[in-house]
Amino acid sequence: MKYATWSKSAGLAVLEPFRDEPGPVLISLQALQREFGYIPAEAVAIVANFFNVSRADVHGVLTFYEDLSSSPPLPNEIHVCIAEACQAVGSRSLEKALKLAHGEQVRDVFCFGNCALGPAAMVNGVLIGRATPEKIAAAMK
Ligand code: FES
Repeated sequence: MKYATWSKSAGLAVLEPFRDEPGPVLISLQALQREFGYIPAEAVAIVANFFNVSRADVHGVLTFYEDLSSSPPLPNEIHVCIAEACQAVGSRSLEKALKLAHGEQVRDVFCFGNCALGPAAMVNGVLIGRATPEKIAAAMK
């Protein structure tokens, strides 16, 4: 997914439609993330000033919701299921190998609902059953 390049003016343009919304902090942060792929540190003060709330309020929302990120997006998002059914067929060793190879791009998930085809993984939103490092590598950008 292509994201816009962050700038203060581009960020303010994203915030403008939410000016009169009640409780605009969360929805404006979600909009910033959709536009830029993350919420830059500079955006916290801009959002706070724009909606006349404290920086602590904005920071609190930003850090409370796991889907909001203050770091630029990684090249790939790799999720490995570590719930029981996938663990029984080797997801922990798959996860370990993937983390060695791809570092912070790899995250744990508890069950994709694909338990019969474990170990299950997801690469950039695409579900992979009977996942192997080779299948994961083939699905990466
Ligand atoms: S336990 Fe892994 S997909 Fe359900």
